[in-house]
Amino acid sequence: MKFLVGNWKSNGNIKEKKRLLGSLNHLKPKTKVILCLPFTLLNDTKTKIALGAQDISLYPNGAFTGDISGTMLKDLGVKYVIVGHSERRRYHHETNAIVKNKANIALQNGIIPIVCIGESEIEHKQGKTRSVIKRMLLESVPEVGKFIVAYEPRWAIGTGVTPTAKEIESIHKIIFETLKTIHCEKMPVLYGGSVNAGNTTDFIDIPHVDGFMVGRASLKSETFVPIIKNMN
Ligand code: 13P
Repeated sequence: MKFLVGNWKSNGNIKEKKRLLGSLNHLKPKTKVILCLPFTLLNDTKTKIALGAQDISLYPNGAFTGDISGTMLKDLGVKYVIVGHSERRRYHHETNAIVKNKANIALQNGIIPIVCIGESEIEHKQGKTRSVIKRMLLESVPEVGKFIVAYEPRWAIGTGVTPTAKEIESIHKIIFETLKTIHCEKMPVLYGGSVNAGNTTDFIDIPHVDGFMVGRASLKSETFVPIIKNMN
């Protein structure tokens, strides 16, 4: 099965959520569509489309002002959570160790973590992508339990620039081989970074690409629905 994860980041409001979910209702996607919304829009998770969060606290319930714990997400009925998105790594200084810890906390609460990895533009230009990706992967994924990997090169996020299909194929092969060394090769691996209806047709049949993680194009039905249709 293919996966399509929409990541709304710090965008959207109640009206926009209703509008998008309404437009997805009549679709019968063969793809597993997951919409990762800001915490403020996760009040009603009894939707046809699975909803996910974009972060989870490192801490249990208690004196941790501003944190949203795993128990709270579980209570809401959240089934997925993004951990280690490049924006969290960059603006909130999240390390691989923190990401792994968050992934474990998600699993303890019955929530599947979507573990993000991806090299920076400098690392890409210096030819370090392979080594960076392997290390990020091995240090960020949980030891036991199900997870999803999202490969999102930092330089492709929000830029309109993507790797070529050949480059995506070669990195996803490395991710697959690396997952194999820890007996996790069955875990789905998604590509993310400037995904749109146009390039999904080029990328969907690449070996070891099990779907996509989409930012901007997931915000509106006009751009999100065509991606779902392309994947059917
Ligand atoms: P864009 O699709 O807007 O490039 O964002 C990608 C992303 O960060 C999804 O998590």
